[in-house]
Amino acid sequence: MEAVAPLTNAVLEAIKSRRSIGRLTDERPARVQVEAIIDAAIHAPNHHHTHPWRFVVIAGDARQGAGEALAASLNRRAIVSGGTVDPTLRANEAMKFLRAPVVIVAAVEPTPGEPLDEEVAAGAAAVQNMLLAAHSLGLAAVWRTGATVRDPQAAAEFGLAAEAVIVGFVYLGTPDPTTPPKPRPARPDLASITRWDGWTD
Ligand SMILES: Cc1cc2nc3c(=O)[nH]c(=O)nc-3n(C[C@H](O)[C@H](O)[C@H](O)COP(=O)(O)O)c2cc1C
Repeated sequence: MEAVAPLTNAVLEAIKSRRSIGRLTDERPARVQVEAIIDAAIHAPNHHHTHPWRFVVIAGDARQGAGEALAASLNRRAIVSGGTVDPTLRANEAMKFLRAPVVIVAAVEPTPGEPLDEEVAAGAAAVQNMLLAAHSLGLAAVWRTGATVRDPQAAAEFGLAAEAVIVGFVYLGTPDPTTPPKPRPARPDLASITRWDGWTD
């Protein structure tokens, strides 16, 4: 049985009650909410204050245009592996951003001389802040990736610097009230993943 930590407060509650929610209504979050979410993102830790984060907010008709970048990436992968893309698959890929009223491309632009893994770690911390901020505002969000984020040409297609690393696509919207809440996916028992050295009590 999963051990539950005995302490709680609003932050711990928010962390534990957040869920990835993909079923959204068409209602677009307000711009002020999106700004609050990005503001939360850039309060993530980052080594040497490099502020490597970059965001592209995609809404409305721009989602279809940006979806073409996903489809183009799919095509490139097919060419590399010597195949072709089924037109239905391609069309599905191009429509992916229509699953949410807002998609935020969350990326980091590496700072020269800084370790890339630390810049990407700061990007991941920023995305987690975004998910928690969205949750605290009553919005729904999912951190999505896929092979496109590993495509070295994709960042430029989203108008980012060619060397930028896409950390995720944050799908953002209003939860569909007709969809029952998802059960909390099980987490490992703390004792099975933690070693306590030097603790005597
Ligand atoms: C790096 C990363 C990439 C992810 N990519 C996807 C994705 O491509 N599609 C998706 O539906 N969820 C994706 N997720 C969300 C996870 O599936 C989700 O966090 C997991 O199922 C646990 O559910 P929870 O977020 O509700 O706790 C990703 C999460 C992380 C951290």
